[in-house]
Amino acid sequence: MSSDEDSSGGRVISVASGKGGTGKTVTSLNLAMELHNLGKDVTIIDADLEDPNLGINMGIYSPQSTINESLETDKGLVEAIHIHETGIRLVPASLSINYLDTNLSSLESAFGNLGGYVIVDCGPGLSDKVVSCLEHSDSLIAVTNPMRSAVSGTVRLTELARDMNKEIEGIVVNNMTSKEIRSEEIANITGCDVLGEIPYDINVDKSIVRKKPLVHHKPYSKAALAYRKIAHDLLDKEFQPKKSHHIKRYFDSLVNSLKWK
Ligand SMILES: Nc1ncnc2c1ncn2[C@@H]1O[C@H](COP(=O)(O)OP(=O)(O)OP(=O)(O)O)[C@@H](O)[C@H]1O
Ligand SMILES: [Mg+2]
Repeated sequence: MSSDEDSSGGRVISVASGKGGTGKTVTSLNLAMELHNLGKDVTIIDADLEDPNLGINMGIYSPQSTINESLETDKGLVEAIHIHETGIRLVPASLSINYLDTNLSSLESAFGNLGGYVIVDCGPGLSDKVVSCLEHSDSLIAVTNPMRSAVSGTVRLTELARDMNKEIEGIVVNNMTSKEIRSEEIANITGCDVLGEIPYDINVDKSIVRKKPLVHHKPYSKAALAYRKIAHDLLDKEFQPKKSHHIKRYFDSLVNSLKWK
């Protein structure tokens, strides 16, 4: 991560993908939660206005204030911040069809005004809305699956970010059920660093059921450890999984197996 965060007191990172369903929302939530756990001031924004589910994943079903209202009225984004029980700050999007026309081009410097780390959960693909998010971000984290169909979209996305002179933090290779394309190959094709590989983990869906980010709900699960490592790397902090992580994970799964019977 560059030094922008310290000089300006804030850093805006868009989490995007060339293809839908790669794990942007899960990645945004878990990186934001771990950055918060590491003492950073973090706000996460739902910028997927067509199919918002960040709030839903965190148990906020009918938010009092949303990014849509902030953009369509004089209210600033600060007024749309909800504090989740985990301590994380988030700005949900409206689930109402009345707001389908909300235009992200009126964002101006709204993200940056929030201060601290701002993680922007973008919609899928390279729509105008995603371009607007990137315009108002310092950098990009691209999320892909290790499949040709997803990686080709990642190539286009990273090219776009370069054309826009945006820093690319790197690529998160998520949901490693397939090994169609290895991470080294993804790094070669895109010319970007791979920040980490997130394994397929049943606990991801369980954490959504619990309405909490995985790194909070099951911090020693395999996917949580992978997200925590990436968050540490973003801050240039060392993350050494200890042997006790395996023991904690074993007890977690034991408790789970009893619960789910
Ligand atoms: N590492 C993983 N292991 C298991 N399931 C995962 C993993 N990552 C994501 N998922 C599941 O995949 C689904 C899609 O994830 P997510 O909503 O984060 O994708 P998205 O890129 O934000 O989708 P969209 O493009 O629709 O916004 C979710 O049901 C999530 O639980
Ligand atoms: Mg999403």
